[in-house]
Amino acid sequence: MTARPLSPRVPADRPVRAVLVGCGGMSAAWLRAAATVPGLEVVGLVDLNEGAALARQSEFELLHAQTGTDLDAVLAATRPDLVFDCTIPDAHHATALTAFSHGVGVLGEKPLADTLERAQDMVQAGQHAGLFHAVIQNRRYDPNIRRVRAFVEGGRMGAVTGVHADFFLGPHFGGFRDTMEHVLLLDMAIHTFDAARLICGQDPVSVTCHEWNPAGSWYAHGANAVATFEMTGGVVFTYRGSWCAEGFPTTWESDWRITGTRGTVRWDGGDHPRAAVVTGTGGFFSEFEEMELPPLAPDARTGGHEGLIRDAVRVLREGGTAETVASDNIKSLAMVLAAIESAESGQKVSVTW
Ligand SMILES: NC(=O)c1ccc[n+]([C@@H]2O[C@H](COP(=O)([O-])OP(=O)(O)OC[C@H]3O[C@@H](n4cnc5c(N)ncnc54)[C@H](O)[C@@H]3O)[C@@H](O)[C@H]2O)c1
Repeated sequence: MTARPLSPRVPADRPVRAVLVGCGGMSAAWLRAAATVPGLEVVGLVDLNEGAALARQSEFELLHAQTGTDLDAVLAATRPDLVFDCTIPDAHHATALTAFSHGVGVLGEKPLADTLERAQDMVQAGQHAGLFHAVIQNRRYDPNIRRVRAFVEGGRMGAVTGVHADFFLGPHFGGFRDTMEHVLLLDMAIHTFDAARLICGQDPVSVTCHEWNPAGSWYAHGANAVATFEMTGGVVFTYRGSWCAEGFPTTWESDWRITGTRGTVRWDGGDHPRAAVVTGTGGFFSEFEEMELPPLAPDARTGGHEGLIRDAVRVLREGGTAETVASDNIKSLAMVLAAIESAESGQKVSVTW
């Protein structure tokens, strides 16, 4: 199927108009971010529970915004340019298809969908309609991961051979995560897998994954996982993760070691990513220069949710493609679902999308 060119651009003399659907926990971060983006107006708030929409309307003083429980009706009444999808993963498919049926693009929360089939269907529907369709992957828009990516891409450490992430935290969330199946892989690991794709600039090929719920876990299922991905370009990405690790927590960004043919980058998720690059060879060990990675490039895309929303507005006005366009970001979801399949089958699984 050939994708149509993106639908007409939003002219500079009027705001980009958005309807937010799913006024739960994450919607506050979206509305806070949206309020800082020039030329963007939230014209509608939708939730199955109208009280949640009304609460956000009052909290963010969006008194002109239409509220409702039915996305279809609010889209018909407000005719926006974009839907912000902050619903639960099971509802992302129906939300996107409803938006597309009104000729409206979608910027949605991760994960793209709850199954690969639905994600593929959404990508095809968005492309067929020629509409904007992208996923919020806010951890890509972290200033330090941009420094890591720029350094790797610049080639000073040679060609990347390995990407290794440790994620060890012990959050006691309470709520739905306590009983969710594959809780670490489904709810959190997509951020780390997406970050690994960004860092090495390669696509996933296959995965072997072992998932377990360790003794003492306060989750019902799958709080720990270890996965090994083969990526294109001969790169191997390894992931060791736990959501019930008591003590010595990593950051939410993970603790990374990236190996290359002429050096290594280490990043603990904080503000001081470092590199060691080979300066001399021939001895038992090579000689190295150690350095903190260069500062952020002025044109780097950062800002978490706000940065992604800004970029969506820019693409709607100027054209181009969002970095987290659904047709590419489906690969991060495919990594999660293939890891789960491998954990369940005990087999190596090809990652397809
Ligand atoms: N990017 C991040 O760092 C991050 C962090 C947490 C959650 N998330 C993602 O954000 C999304 C929302 O998570 P949350 O924690 O806000 O969940 P939540 O349960 O707090 O809120 C979801 C809201 O959506 C509403 N809703 C569900 N189905 C709907 C439908 N069909 N139409 C209208 N409203 C509907 C619910 O009534 C609820 O108010 C999920 O996809 C989650 O994975 C992302």
